[in-house]
Amino acid sequence: NNKKKLIAGNWKMNGSLAANEVLLKALIAGLDDVACDVAVAVPAPYLAQVQALTAGTVVAVAAQDVSRYESGAYTGEVSVAMLKDFGVRYALVGHSERRQYHGETDVAVAEKAQRALAAGVTPIVCVGETLQEREAGQTEAVVKRQLAAVIHLNGHCISEIVVAYEPVWAIGTGRTASPEQAQAVHAVLRAQLSAASEHADRIRLLYGGSMNAGNAAQLLAQPDIDGGLVGGASLKAADFLQIIAAAR
Ligand code: G3H
Repeated sequence: NNKKKLIAGNWKMNGSLAANEVLLKALIAGLDDVACDVAVAVPAPYLAQVQALTAGTVVAVAAQDVSRYESGAYTGEVSVAMLKDFGVRYALVGHSERRQYHGETDVAVAEKAQRALAAGVTPIVCVGETLQEREAGQTEAVVKRQLAAVIHLNGHCISEIVVAYEPVWAIGTGRTASPEQAQAVHAVLRAQLSAASEHADRIRLLYGGSMNAGNAAQLLAQPDIDGGLVGGASLKAADFLQIIAAAR
């Protein structure tokens, strides 16, 4: 696996002007001989601040969501054109917290990915099963259904997406999927992508769910794990730097 890995931090609904500045300055100061791509997905109000603080560095700006609509009467939504105004390179779509707490359907997620792709913003499409689904033996069926919606709507553009496998039971719980468990699902996703696109081998598949400085290297050593989507550990510069250093 010689793809350049991607380590994306997801700050979720955390941060402040003051805290973001401290975090980003420590992160940028600690970056040394970086072998992977690095991004931070930040709350929308801080896009301008983060764009300014990361300018000229290897740290790319990501959004945590994007509207499925182009513009207009959609109160509270942020369009992809607005994200582009702030130099956004990646947008998370279909994070499990959006699916769980905001009722995002597979179709809505696919439309968001389409909107991002059309504007040249790389969607990081999140998929993953709940604990109940895993215990019922439905893991493969669930992630395939979630990814199929995106493949169906985005056709040949599919090679431009990033996919993040995040088992819901591993998010924020300190309970990580084992490297073998994660690799098994990544292999399923890779096969599904390969059936849809001849360029599937260049699609990066990230693992997310309690990835930290201690477990990142083993996860990233798996043949189909091409990076990480890091929540909690991305809020601590030292931890995030260790994960970045493990991605080579
Ligand atoms: O987007 C990131 C994931 O939801 C993982 O979060 O690293 O805090 O478990 P976590």
